[in-house]
Amino acid sequence: MQTNFRGRDFIGDLDFSKEEVETVLEVAWDLKRKRALGEPHPLLRDKTLAMLFFFSSTRTRGSFEAGMAQLGGHGAFIDSETTQISHGDTAKEIGEIFGRYFDGIAIRQCDWDFGNKYENEVAKYSRAPVLNMQCDIYHPFQCLADLMTIMEKKGRDLRRKRIVVSWAYAASYLKPISVPQSLIVQMPRFGMDVVLAHPPEFNLMPDIVEQAKEQARKYGVGFDITHSMEEGFKDADVVYAKSWGPLLTTADKVEGKRLQDSYKSWITDAPKMKLAKPDAIYMHPLPADRNIEVTDEVIDGPNSVVYDEAENRLHAQKAVMALTMS
Ligand code: CP
Repeated sequence: MQTNFRGRDFIGDLDFSKEEVETVLEVAWDLKRKRALGEPHPLLRDKTLAMLFFFSSTRTRGSFEAGMAQLGGHGAFIDSETTQISHGDTAKEIGEIFGRYFDGIAIRQCDWDFGNKYENEVAKYSRAPVLNMQCDIYHPFQCLADLMTIMEKKGRDLRRKRIVVSWAYAASYLKPISVPQSLIVQMPRFGMDVVLAHPPEFNLMPDIVEQAKEQARKYGVGFDITHSMEEGFKDADVVYAKSWGPLLTTADKVEGKRLQDSYKSWITDAPKMKLAKPDAIYMHPLPADRNIEVTDEVIDGPNSVVYDEAENRLHAQKAVMALTMS
């Protein structure tokens, strides 16, 4: 078990080794059990976390704030729009200053070709760890919760289990590409065969795909890409289908929406779920465009684990906060 976490940032999924992720999951399950038993676990008494948001959130905000309170500390919600960041506070200034006020700085900054750079710049100047609540490249806490959920449903040994990470149509907005990118780099380390399915214009970042292939080679698992949703779903143990924007194809939102609208058939519905294994689980980080991205029948159906998945955000994040901020 690797336990050297104190003071470390968690910005990219591979910032923690496989053994370190295993430690995080063990701590997360311990904290989940303690919460179920009503057993106090004030591991971060008197500690504070800055929760800096540049983008809206339901689950991330709620779970980080509740998590800090359950650990005996305090999570301070800070909306970038109502701070002097909107009048010019730099990433360096945020790192230097918040790093002195707080014991951790959690940031959600998803702006394309900016968010990850911003978080790393804050981290460079902060004496407190920086935790990535989602950037333009990664959503590592979502991925930890996803891994935890998959292990709860499919067992700790995930070798020869097949996950399809699929694009799905959405009408609401062009969603970030961070969730599928985190999934394809993290899941091969735990033995899963990964199939990435998306229309041709919805590529992920080439260096992230290369990293995923490298992890797949290292851990002796499969990594395949298909441009057919049906092909991707075949024989899957885990169906993880969500929308993302065509950010590698166009930066133009109108063109992006036009492209997105040309793939309305990419919905997760019962006939497509039938292509997967009968006991396949359906996952989505939420929010989902209901009856556009996924039918009510699937997301509310017996194979859906979306609420357990959302719950595990709390436990996984508490584990990382307790390990890095204590
Ligand atoms: N899954 C997720 O990150 O949800 P929020 O955008 O609501 O935080």
